[in-house]
Amino acid sequence: MGLTKLQKRIGFIGAGQMAEALARGFISKGVVEASSMIATDPVAARREVFESFDVKAVSTNLEVVKESDIVFVAVKPQYVGPVLKEVRGHLTDKHTIVSIAAGKTLSSLKEAAGDDVRIVRVMPNTPCLVGETASAMCLGGQANDEDAETVRTLFSAVGRIVQVDEKMLSAVTGLSGSGPAYAFLVIEALADGGVKAGLPRDISMALAAQTVLGSAKMVLETGKHPGLLKDMVTSPGGTTIAGYHELEKGGVRASLINAVVAATNRADEISKL
Ligand SMILES: NC(=O)c1ccc[n+]([C@@H]2O[C@H](COP(=O)([O-])OP(=O)(O)OC[C@H]3O[C@@H](n4cnc5c(N)ncnc54)[C@H](OP(=O)(O)O)[C@@H]3O)[C@@H](O)[C@H]2O)c1
Repeated sequence: MGLTKLQKRIGFIGAGQMAEALARGFISKGVVEASSMIATDPVAARREVFESFDVKAVSTNLEVVKESDIVFVAVKPQYVGPVLKEVRGHLTDKHTIVSIAAGKTLSSLKEAAGDDVRIVRVMPNTPCLVGETASAMCLGGQANDEDAETVRTLFSAVGRIVQVDEKMLSAVTGLSGSGPAYAFLVIEALADGGVKAGLPRDISMALAAQTVLGSAKMVLETGKHPGLLKDMVTSPGGTTIAGYHELEKGGVRASLINAVVAATNRADEISKL
């Protein structure tokens, strides 16, 4: 992939699903050596998982802070404040804190970690688990361009990342954060259509998922507008325009727009709780 090898030590407070997906992605894409990472978790089984791919696992959060430059706070949102308060006395100007917790605002992170700390807030999504995240980040506290570049390098190893103002993060949550569920619905429905039309379930599911994957790749790799790509495959009087007409009659386009807006509004509500 030609990604830069980071000369920084990476720590994970919370060695759960997201931390594991990130650590494995960093190693497999060669951006960070396993020997430059450390993780902590109260659950021994989770520490063993990290040790199984040669990442040092310890039982206290302070050890992670002492041995890391980039500290991922990868615990559930309700534990983020207590964890940051626990370690704040040990945070120095070498540290960058990266929070991936849903709904934890930069101001609440700064309040817990301290005014002088460099903080980056990232909203990843679950395809992180397969190296295809669509993530967004925003900078807070004293975070600078170098921090942004470091986080960009790391998340580029497990997908894509864009930088936004924090006020856009609810919309990011409504689109890419919640989006995998919408895409799963589309894949499931396409597969149901294949079954209704006579295909075996397994073949139908494989074709549906690969069709969505391939179409997404075409949008990203050609840079062409999806409307243009659609026009290129709808021949006059053909099969595709017949099916496409049914989608428009069913209001699929409006439903997807409404889904993103509803999820954005809910993300706004939750971040104010
Ligand atoms: N999974 C997703 O799709 C997704 C997407 C976007 C953002 N996120 C964010 O990512 C964060 C992590 O999610 P996850 O799905 O990876 O959760 P997870 O699998 O539950 O991992 C969190 C881990 O942190 C441990 N932990 C709890 N308190 C701790 C403490 N004080 N110090 C150290 N470790 C502690 C937990 O142990 P216990 O089990 O004992 O509590 C658990 O093993 C969340 O804030 C979530 O909002 C997740």
